[in-house]
Amino acid sequence: MPTLSYMEPELNPYRPGAGLQPPELAGRQDQIGYFDFLIIRAKRHNIDRGMIMSGLRGVGKTALMNKLVGMAETHSWICVVTEGQTSKYGVGDVRRRLGSEIQAALVKFSIRQRINAGMERLSELVGRFSVTVGPVSLEHHPQPGATGLLDLDVEELVTQIARAAQDRGSAFAIFVDEMQDLDPELLSALLVVQHKTQQQGLPFYLIGTGLPNLPAALTTSRSYAERLFNYSVIGPLNDAAAADALEIPAQRVGCSYTPEAVRHLIKATNGYPYFLQEYGRAIWNLAGAKTFTLDDARAAIRVGQAQLDAGFFPTRWERATPREREYMAAMATSGDESVGSASTAEIARTLGQDREAFGPARQSLIRKGLIYVPERGRVAFSVPGMADYIARVLAEQDDN
Ligand SMILES: Nc1ncnc2c1ncn2[C@@H]1O[C@H](COP(=O)(O)OP(=O)(O)O)[C@@H](O)[C@H]1O
Ligand SMILES: [Mg+2]
Repeated sequence: MPTLSYMEPELNPYRPGAGLQPPELAGRQDQIGYFDFLIIRAKRHNIDRGMIMSGLRGVGKTALMNKLVGMAETHSWICVVTEGQTSKYGVGDVRRRLGSEIQAALVKFSIRQRINAGMERLSELVGRFSVTVGPVSLEHHPQPGATGLLDLDVEELVTQIARAAQDRGSAFAIFVDEMQDLDPELLSALLVVQHKTQQQGLPFYLIGTGLPNLPAALTTSRSYAERLFNYSVIGPLNDAAAADALEIPAQRVGCSYTPEAVRHLIKATNGYPYFLQEYGRAIWNLAGAKTFTLDDARAAIRVGQAQLDAGFFPTRWERATPREREYMAAMATSGDESVGSASTAEIARTLGQDREAFGPARQSLIRKGLIYVPERGRVAFSVPGMADYIARVLAEQDDN
């Protein structure tokens, strides 16, 4: 049977998808270097700021966070990984999950460090915390012993764990993905405790990732948040890093790209990691030989784009109600290419209605993570290429 593909598809190293660890985590040396430095300094009891990394969906925030978690674990830190959620039931869920994640991290820590003494006290604190943060305290019936006030209970718990970690030359970190979706009360409690532990020289680090509006959300919650963290924007990869993301995984198995092929793919993806993985996967599956050529790259872009139009974009589009789609369509046509966002007043004009009429639709789109508010009075899509995709969908509908 003749076959188009030379490379075995099952060996395909590229991994387009949400939160999938890429075969080569390219171009994030700054963040990895800072975290490495933080780990080394923590060993010497020098406490630095936590980290906040913000960027659009699909730029690789979760992948980077997972890498940092791995580094912290290697150094026997007490690591807790959690994620903000927007759903109505999310608040209780996130808090309960945080409680059980902390419990699990403590168990792991005590086993690794072969310690028992003192750990019961911490477990007890977590138990209380889990009750405080669950639905019980939301109805103001705190467990005896717990204050029932989230910030005080979070503070006591985090401080105690950080002390236990410090005594053993370790540190405590809470990693929060999609941090913009954390409920305001828990977010504020975590910022307060990060502030206090920094003042007390305790090794507790909040490491957060989220959409581009995350830094502003933190400052709104606590004005001193801007001084608590090392902030970085996770953007598209530069050309050298994008080339690494494509080439290194191929080279590991004896394949390569011609320079023109790489250049062409980088240009088509703008260095956006999700698209690099998607096009990388496509070129692997269709290339006729171990050296991937410009023709292969052209074909891969067609296939990759069709894949994106069949999955990445429509899953977003279809999550929206008809009214929300109407809003996004107006956004797509009102958008200012140069700033990548649209003014809500302009969108209202396009829709021929006043701004408030579409307020609920806009809020719901924000909750679904499809759009975000980069600054007051403006909205933007949370993934690149969405406006173009919507234009393609609408053109197709007009054709039918
Ligand atoms: N530094 C990187 N180099 C190459 N590919 C990456 C990099 N970071 C992430 N990716 C890939 O990009 C896609 C999106 O990554 P993800 O971490 O889910 O992004 P985000 O959390 O920002 O939405 C995944 O397919 C992942 O493998
Ligand atoms: Mg993510």
